[in-house]
Amino acid sequence: MNESGPVKKIAEKAGEVVEAALSGSRPEVPGVPGAEPAQVDEPTDPRPPLPAKPDQAAPAHTSATGRDVGADQDARAQTGEFLTTAQGVRLPDTDHSLKAGPRGPVLLQDHHLREKITHFDHERIPERVVHARGAGAHGVFESYGSAANVTKAAFLGKGAETPVFVRFSTVLGSRGSADTVRDTRGFATKFYTSEGVFDLVGNNIPVFFIQDAIKFPDVIHAGKPHPDREIPQAQSAHDTFWDFVSLHTEATHHTLWNMSDRGIPRSFRMMEGFGVHTFRAVNADGGSSLIKWHWKPKLGVHSLVWEEAQLIAGADPDFHRRDLYDAIESGAFPQWELGIQVFPDTPEQTFEAIDLLDPTKIVPEELAPVQPVGLLTLDRNPTNFFAEVEQVAFHVGHLVPGIDVTDDALLAGRLFSYVDTQITRLAGSNFAQIPINRTHAPVNDMLRDGFHQDAVHSGLAPYKPNSLDGGCPFFAGAEEHAFIEFPTPVAAATKVREAPASFDDHYSQPRLFWLSMSPVEREHIVAAYTFELGKCYEQAVKERVLRTLAHIDPYLCSQVALGLDLPVPKPDEPLAEPQPSAALSQVGRSWPTQGRTVGIIADPDVDLAALEALRRDVLAGDMVPLIIAPTGGKLTAHGAEPVLVQRTFATARSVEFDAILLAGAPAPGADAFGGRDAKAASPAADGAIDPRISLMLAEAWRHAKVIGAWGGGERAVLAAGIPVDAPGIVIGEGGAPVLTEITEILAAHRVWHRFPAPTESAKAH
Ligand code: HEM
Repeated sequence: MNESGPVKKIAEKAGEVVEAALSGSRPEVPGVPGAEPAQVDEPTDPRPPLPAKPDQAAPAHTSATGRDVGADQDARAQTGEFLTTAQGVRLPDTDHSLKAGPRGPVLLQDHHLREKITHFDHERIPERVVHARGAGAHGVFESYGSAANVTKAAFLGKGAETPVFVRFSTVLGSRGSADTVRDTRGFATKFYTSEGVFDLVGNNIPVFFIQDAIKFPDVIHAGKPHPDREIPQAQSAHDTFWDFVSLHTEATHHTLWNMSDRGIPRSFRMMEGFGVHTFRAVNADGGSSLIKWHWKPKLGVHSLVWEEAQLIAGADPDFHRRDLYDAIESGAFPQWELGIQVFPDTPEQTFEAIDLLDPTKIVPEELAPVQPVGLLTLDRNPTNFFAEVEQVAFHVGHLVPGIDVTDDALLAGRLFSYVDTQITRLAGSNFAQIPINRTHAPVNDMLRDGFHQDAVHSGLAPYKPNSLDGGCPFFAGAEEHAFIEFPTPVAAATKVREAPASFDDHYSQPRLFWLSMSPVEREHIVAAYTFELGKCYEQAVKERVLRTLAHIDPYLCSQVALGLDLPVPKPDEPLAEPQPSAALSQVGRSWPTQGRTVGIIADPDVDLAALEALRRDVLAGDMVPLIIAPTGGKLTAHGAEPVLVQRTFATARSVEFDAILLAGAPAPGADAFGGRDAKAASPAADGAIDPRISLMLAEAWRHAKVIGAWGGGERAVLAAGIPVDAPGIVIGEGGAPVLTEITEILAAHRVWHRFPAPTESAKAH
């Protein structure tokens, strides 16, 4: 990795954030609401608005026509110390309508009342028809230059630095749905390149449900809540979804990925991203190649376990959004390497017998290695969610010279769909002028007028040819960076509504994926299908899904059939025996632990100086320490510096921590009774340890998380029914050595070998 330029600057900035937290000059725990602490009494002395928080940024200051206007970052913020109308007129009151006397009728002449309520009445815009729930961040992309022989795109030239905005999303849920549902995740990146905007609008799964965009409304209607009762929200575990994917077996591969751990990521920071389609790259000599895009997270690919995902959906529905923003705020800037797989641009558009126009197929990395071409770092949070994350408008047709499309029929529909939907969602055709969507390249189009026109176009002649505006704008050639469609030959053909024969292979790649999974990942897949189908009502739908599973693997099919108490069908034809791809498994490697959350359970009896030292060690290791204590406020003891508490036994839940440390064995808190807090009614309680701690440890144990203890903490581990010599249980003399050991284990994400292997009788079924 190149350690100069923006990458080095980002590393320095990340270091500064951690330093500042350690020196106390900024909050140690992310999530502080404002730039300054609030005071108890309402402030009444006029003062200007507070600045944005240090981790936040807003879109660059370009005009609606792409010109750098050079204003400082705060120029977009509201100004002045007094409340005003939208017209800038100062106001003396906003709590009372204008009335004919204190008990009299409200007067229509109240311009402030009318303006305030009218604006409020129109605050909502339509949510995205898909991918409505998401979170976004600003960052920078630094190109290594290694793609320069494949594409002439300027942002992939050596050392090019390009500002970006990224939005991650789920597909099915509404804007307010939970983050950790089982679903595909969107991974959309807007590159503000010197040649115009390039959007890479991908997913965290490299294949798609359908091969042709004409079926997109069908798959989405099937996945969305049932139209009569509008349930279930953001779930695939219902009859219409499984009805469609079992009748429409080209969905089998994507569905299998969804049922794998990929469907429940631990964090946006720990997901891969894929462009899915094959694109065409064109180099400076006019040579073309076919390419597939890959984002590889520096933190590795990691997932939740299903019970954890379900608990989080209730305990913290914003889990992924919070995780992204907290990581950036604490200086653990997420990074991905962009890579490409490169294939010869042959007339067949096929590589090693894999049809490159079929978006339900991958090309295993073992056949075509992913070549790294640059590094993405997300280092700033949005300042205003609506202005940036909600109004950002991605489009697969936002291409730059050097990157072109192929004849993928799914891509073709997308090329139409995005702008079309945005005309409704963003009310008119001028949404490219919304600050987050503005290009940083000069705009000289002949598009005019429309709702919300921000540009004040000069000139008389928005048409070509003209002489009244001196002929401007003029045509560019390749030397002036024009986007010139690659002259792809189109074979003589007859109009048909058909797909190529190779698109009929719906099972060989699902089998490849299944064979590439480790044993524990396979068990998760079995459990996911069994759960989802267990939530369906229609027997016929379940039986039909089992038929598709019979074409993937007999063990998978028989285990799901066992869970549903249904007969095991046989495949219609012998199963393919593809070569497994090790790159598809998430298990078995070590990764950095940056931004991981470490819960430290303590009570006033622990050594507070040692606790504080441990907290700082966690921070210095680029992780986030959260102290969990019987009550909120501060832990205090005679002669020791108080330690700030972030979670209480009542508010904490195991699922928000990657690792749990016990600095002692906390006795039941004053509120530890079932009538006050149902978590305290845990049957594991032995009377001596707070039952909520026992519950927390039991959950962490079930979810194969690492647990560390010292200073009597061992007693709490035993009281939760956990053997202290089990894998991933670290009992030590003090916080520091335990932290070292648990960090090493955390690098593998989970204590994988704690999950028991399936019993022989289950296997034999
Ligand atoms: C390879 C297949 C596909 C991928 C990877 C994909 C990915 C995405 C992503 C990441 C978003 C969210 C963008 C954001 O964050 O604002 C999105 C939104 C959307 N997608 Fe797709 N999509 C695919 C297929 C399709 C197809 C086939 C259609 C329609 C024919 C479609 C229509 C839409 C629409 C209408 C939106 C909402 C856009 C907006 O309101 O701004 N997608 N898609």
